[in-house]
Amino acid sequence: MAKSHNIAVLGGDGTGPEVVAEGIKVLKSAAKRYGFKLHLTEFDFGGDRYLNTGEVLPDSAVDELKKFDAIYLGAIGHPDVAPGILEKGILLRLRFGLDQYINLRPVKLYPGVYTPVRDKGPDDIDFVVVRENTEGLYTGMGGIQYKGTQNEVATQIMCNTRKGVERAVRYAFDLCRKRNKTKMLTLVAKTNVLTYSHDLWWRTFNEVGEADYPDVKRDYAHVDATCMWFVKNPEWFDTIVVCNMFGDIITDLGAMIQGGMGVAAGGNINPNGVSMFEPIGGSAPKYTGKNVINPIAAIAAGQMMLDFLGEGKAAATIEKAIIKAASEKLETMSAGKMGYGTTEVGDMIADFAATI
Ligand code: IPM
Ligand code: MG
Repeated sequence: MAKSHNIAVLGGDGTGPEVVAEGIKVLKSAAKRYGFKLHLTEFDFGGDRYLNTGEVLPDSAVDELKKFDAIYLGAIGHPDVAPGILEKGILLRLRFGLDQYINLRPVKLYPGVYTPVRDKGPDDIDFVVVRENTEGLYTGMGGIQYKGTQNEVATQIMCNTRKGVERAVRYAFDLCRKRNKTKMLTLVAKTNVLTYSHDLWWRTFNEVGEADYPDVKRDYAHVDATCMWFVKNPEWFDTIVVCNMFGDIITDLGAMIQGGMGVAAGGNINPNGVSMFEPIGGSAPKYTGKNVINPIAAIAAGQMMLDFLGEGKAAATIEKAIIKAASEKLETMSAGKMGYGTTEVGDMIADFAATI
């Protein structure tokens, strides 16, 4: 009997549903070619549902999503909802509730894709960021006292645990070993200022590396300097491990050097549970319904998802199909400037994925 994968589909807000629809076309095309089945179940979590019902996420959602093999997410973020409500109430709640403790973000420049970094090409820009995904500044610890007065105090605590740091670090060492590229893992942090939480990162990184990964070289860069190196010498990086907040920031920069938000994909990974794959660019509400947004990031997220589901061949074919479209067909990766509409790009890549 053909293998079947049970996927929860969360289109989400803004252009999320549009790009996810194109991703599904491509996933179906690869499934047909490689003889596996996809069982898709859609959920309407997002800003519109919240505005209509007042409920951000039903209490049952996390448990319900645990039953799936993977989650395919579009984007969360709605212009009519105050910042933080949906992001914390849906995206972060799922990441935390499903213990997706890794946010994996490949930064890979495809041939023929424009990078604003002059004189750098696909050989120079090919690394992966392992962002810790359940701790740091994202736990919601802290608070406000004396709100609205001159004495107002606000704290937002950067909370790291040995367990949380160690599992992220181990994941990154394993991945770096598996990539077998330059076999160098870079810790990106701010040890010169964050002398508690990033001291924990530094010690854990070195202890784990020394004890269990003697074959992997260890490298360190401050986060501010990393922003400089991403532009100046991106070829120095192979695998990066980084705390949640800094990982958020440097991966937007990473997305720009790999061609923009239209191509950057990521996976929220729980190696022992349910993982969730998403384009990292957000909901881009101003482009909603215009058929102009680039679906490649969502398609690449689908590719990552298949890889994690053990469909390596199908994933590799999707990547080839993306590269063909990006390098031979699309004029640019930017919304409205691709030379094709969103649905046309999806059709094209689905077609390549069937034939390439
Ligand atoms: C991301 C996003 C989220 C984050 C927001 C929407 C909460 O920026 O996935 O990078 O900060 O993690
Ligand atoms: Mg971000």
